[in-house]
Amino acid sequence: MTNLILVERDGPIQIVRINRPEKKNALTLAMYSAMADALVAGEADDGVAVHLLAGAGGDFSAGNDLNDFLTLTSLVDSPIARFLLALAGLAKPAVAAVKGAAVGIGSTMILHCDLAVAAVNSRFQFPFVNLGLVPEAASSQLLPGLAGHRRAAELLMLGEPFTAEKAEAIGLVNILVPPGEEEAVALDYARRLAARPRQALRQTKALLKREPEPVVERIKVEARLFEEALRSPELKQAVAAFYERKK
Ligand code: COA
Repeated sequence: MTNLILVERDGPIQIVRINRPEKKNALTLAMYSAMADALVAGEADDGVAVHLLAGAGGDFSAGNDLNDFLTLTSLVDSPIARFLLALAGLAKPAVAAVKGAAVGIGSTMILHCDLAVAAVNSRFQFPFVNLGLVPEAASSQLLPGLAGHRRAAELLMLGEPFTAEKAEAIGLVNILVPPGEEEAVALDYARRLAARPRQALRQTKALLKREPEPVVERIKVEARLFEEALRSPELKQAVAAFYERKK
């Protein structure tokens, strides 16, 4: 186990903190492994309702350790892939608290989080093409889905750094905050999510991430889940609370 990844708990929120500030939180294979393990453990722990990804020091992550790239021979079977598949497969919501450098996988992992808060000093970059590489973490699909082809092409084909304002404008992050406040705001989001009925939240996330299908099919899928949810204790409680509110 590496201390370059810290796993912390704040009530029902599991915080996975990248802790290599002197290297701008660049990620080594051992760090990906530790993050994958933490996410898998958080998913299995009934006490955890929400995952939060954060960085120690002034940065979120400067991406893959560039030195590691030189010795990496297989990506498909690597800890990088294990981490990405664990992140992309999370059933519980994930929130990111971003600041400083968010480069490479430091940007693409945000695409897999449900909510993201960024300090205004964040600098994002998808630099793959400049390194002779190609997009990873499904960013070639998720980014155009988020920002449209033209803006995704600009970011993935030029690979230049871009500002927090731009990240907010294209929908990569939800909200910009002054530096130093990103984690408190992300925690606030996470706590608000953790206060929601868990089953409904999971099903909402699953629906949001479901492959596109004809609208009439989606109406039926939602209707089946909705029907089940009509029998949930949370609905009874919420309706009772509504009628009790003025008493
Ligand atoms: N891999 C390994 N080390 C990295 C790193 C990375 N991805 N990113 C930063 N570092 C290290 C630097 O080598 C430096 O180490 P040193 O102090 O031992 O020399 C330290 O972190 C600080 O980085 P530095 O470049 O001096 O900081 P900066 O503020 O001038 O620039 C960045 C910050 C993020 C813009 C710059 O470090 C950078 O471009 N990093 C590479 C990002 C990248 O290409 N990632 C891979 C994406 S696929």
